[in-house]
Amino acid sequence: MSTTHAPYEKVFVGKRMKDLDAILLRYPTKQAALLPALWIVQEERGWVGEEAMTEVAGALDITPAYVKGVVTFYTMYHQHPVGKYFVQICTTSPCLCAGADKVTEAFLKHTGCNELGVTSPDGKYTVIEVECLGACGFATPVQINADTIENVSADKVPQILAGLK
Ligand code: FES
Repeated sequence: MSTTHAPYEKVFVGKRMKDLDAILLRYPTKQAALLPALWIVQEERGWVGEEAMTEVAGALDITPAYVKGVVTFYTMYHQHPVGKYFVQICTTSPCLCAGADKVTEAFLKHTGCNELGVTSPDGKYTVIEVECLGACGFATPVQINADTIENVSADKVPQILAGLK
């Protein structure tokens, strides 16, 4: 059985190369631009794979191992493809006491994900639990992509999902 692997297409071409060049102008060294460079990759591809890490390393004159160390340190970078909507629910103790487990159950049910970390069959959602989102007084906070929604309860989940564009 043969395995086919599509050739890697570079991220930093055309507009994305210009974006990187503009970022590099703002930093004292190329290495210092690593986080925003990775962000460009994630915006473009939705995740940061090994080949993209190698491309970033080449663009910034650093080693792929260094890039991987940074990607694996920050949970905001996805090392695997995720759904269009990446749902992060705080389930640290204060939010858990306020019903975060019920919120999680509701998201898993209404997105069709059914399991944490698994992308829904339609490719739209991935739901994970995270540590404190820094909104402990507004339990349960849920971050969907770059937006944080506070005071989420299980009964509000269908309406939140319906409002996503
Ligand atoms: S414990 Fe949930 S936001 Fe802090």
